[in-house]
Amino acid sequence: MYNITLIPGDGIGLEVTKAMKKVVASTGVQIEWEEVVAGEKVLEKYGTPLPEYVIDSIRKNKIAIKGPVTTPVGKGFRSVNVALRKELNLYANVRPIKSFKGVKSKYSDLDFTIIRENTEGLYAGIEHKIGDYAGETIKIITRPACEKIVKFACDYTKNNSYKRLTGVHKANIMKISDGLFLDIFNEVCDKNGIYIDMDKNDSVYRDNMIVDATAMNLVLNPEKFDVLVMPNLYGDILSDLGAGLVGGLGMIPSANIGQEYAVFEAVHGSAPEIAGKNIANPTAIIQSAVMMLKYIGEYNAANKIELALQKIFEEGKVLTRDLGGNASTSEFSDELCRLIKIN
Ligand code: NAI
Repeated sequence: MYNITLIPGDGIGLEVTKAMKKVVASTGVQIEWEEVVAGEKVLEKYGTPLPEYVIDSIRKNKIAIKGPVTTPVGKGFRSVNVALRKELNLYANVRPIKSFKGVKSKYSDLDFTIIRENTEGLYAGIEHKIGDYAGETIKIITRPACEKIVKFACDYTKNNSYKRLTGVHKANIMKISDGLFLDIFNEVCDKNGIYIDMDKNDSVYRDNMIVDATAMNLVLNPEKFDVLVMPNLYGDILSDLGAGLVGGLGMIPSANIGQEYAVFEAVHGSAPEIAGKNIANPTAIIQSAVMMLKYIGEYNAANKIELALQKIFEEGKVLTRDLGGNASTSEFSDELCRLIKIN
């Protein structure tokens, strides 16, 4: 029996986490979910969308899965996500971009991962107004954070049998901050035996690319990438681009990993315009649960869900609206449970 924190979140968070719980239960893995509420619903009562009991629950259980939380644009409280990542030092954000046969998209066979530095960069939260005239956001890039994220990316590349590790930056313009990231990328890769020259090591190699060129190459030749590591904001943007290559935001999972804690969540937001209608695609949070099951060593259960997902997309009969079908969230998850049980 595992104790895991569950944060349903706002908007479609309620529907997709409910679907996820059902699907995980159908694998037979015993999980005691400790449900804690964060976000809009508790803001008034606690004066913050991230009350202390949420952090306490994750500290106790070490692992959490969370639905999306609404963050008002340009005003009000800071993002729950950014605060959680900083508070628990979840320094690595891992976003695998994988195609499924049967899901309509421009590409049919993609498999690459975006690894985003999760604690600093333009998300350090250091912002101020200069009167009515200007707003200033300070971008912080530090040696310890770069070392940690690049080492994580080196290990991830090797452990998952990928060949190419690409460091993404804008060091041509931000010569000091992104320049430091690039220097450390090269340094840490060298230390871990990942070289530019493929002859020195024929299993894994590295290169680096400016972020705007990366965006273009991801659209033109996404199949050429394996693992990409980058500062915070670039990872945020490019992973949405990645989602667009394999069927949209309803598909892409993520893991926020630190030394002690891990929080799994979908890449998408709370999608308020479709919330409460039972039409959201729960695949992203279900795939986040697959990452969580692998993290706790439940490979058999993870594998069952992955096979059921492959089957449901290949058959193409029970698909949510974002994928061109007309199934509801609960019809989709019920069908997944059925496929898991008959396998
Ligand atoms: P969003 O991801 O909620 O929606 C973007 C588009 O994708 C919308 O058209 C939406 O309907 C669609 N979509 C997203 N997830 C879907 C799913 N599972 N199934 C079907 N369609 C789906 O992004 P948006 O509109 O920019 O943000 C809404 C709110 O969510 C904002 O308050 C934002 O701050 C918050 N947000 C929270 C995140 C988190 O908690 N991890 C991540 C991103 C945004």
